[in-house]
Amino acid sequence: MKQIICVLALCVTALLAIWLVTKPKCEGTAAEQSSVVEAIKSRRSIRAYKDTPVEREKLQLLAECGVLAPSAMNKQEWEVRIVDSKEWIDGATATYLKAIEGTGKADYMLKPGFKNIFRNAPAVIFVAAPEGVFAGENVGCLAQNIMLAATELDLGTCFLGSAQMIFAEPAMQSHLQSLGFSEGYKLRYALAVGYPDESPEAKPRDMTKIKWVE
Ligand SMILES: Cc1cc2nc3c(=O)[nH]c(=O)nc-3n(C[C@H](O)[C@H](O)[C@H](O)COP(=O)(O)O)c2cc1C
Repeated sequence: MKQIICVLALCVTALLAIWLVTKPKCEGTAAEQSSVVEAIKSRRSIRAYKDTPVEREKLQLLAECGVLAPSAMNKQEWEVRIVDSKEWIDGATATYLKAIEGTGKADYMLKPGFKNIFRNAPAVIFVAAPEGVFAGENVGCLAQNIMLAATELDLGTCFLGSAQMIFAEPAMQSHLQSLGFSEGYKLRYALAVGYPDESPEAKPRDMTKIKWVE
């Protein structure tokens, strides 16, 4: 009986080894398997977030992924500030709403469920850069790294170009200064970050913009 069990165990082990060696490594093409491609395809701009705070290690990781982006001549002319203080976010929101009261400037944000001017996110990453020929390209790469890394971590993001206008309001200067950007650095955008409370459909893209040149 013992011998039969031993033979059976050996057979099972051998079959398992053969299966492990011969099983297909992946289904679909390498590109379809890539988590980066998957993140690119599933990323959406998120404008509704859960109140769940984002773990600080994750926010730090996102910022570091941003700084790992390419930049012209690797000059890394950017500065990144992470804010997860509800007090700071709510304070900036209150100041802005008061400053623009009656102008209609914030109407597009003031929908049911409104929490703050950063598309209701519990955390915000601000990015500044000096004027420069490739400034936009550099900080654009940084933003996309953060947004894709966030997608991979099940976090939502929204690129907020509107931060430039919001922090240009005179009433917002003390909030802007509290971010502590260096002299000569201009706020370019903010990235809303948080756990998504919506799952928007992908917005259409025009693939005819791509042409092959033979
Ligand atoms: C430079 C830039 C500025 C943007 N500014 C804002 C903004 O101020 N507020 C906002 O809600 N979304 C903003 N967005 C997000 C776009 O509206 C969004 O990316 C676009 O509609 C496509 O949707 P998707 O990101 O879900 O694919 C901005 C995106 C970029 C690249």
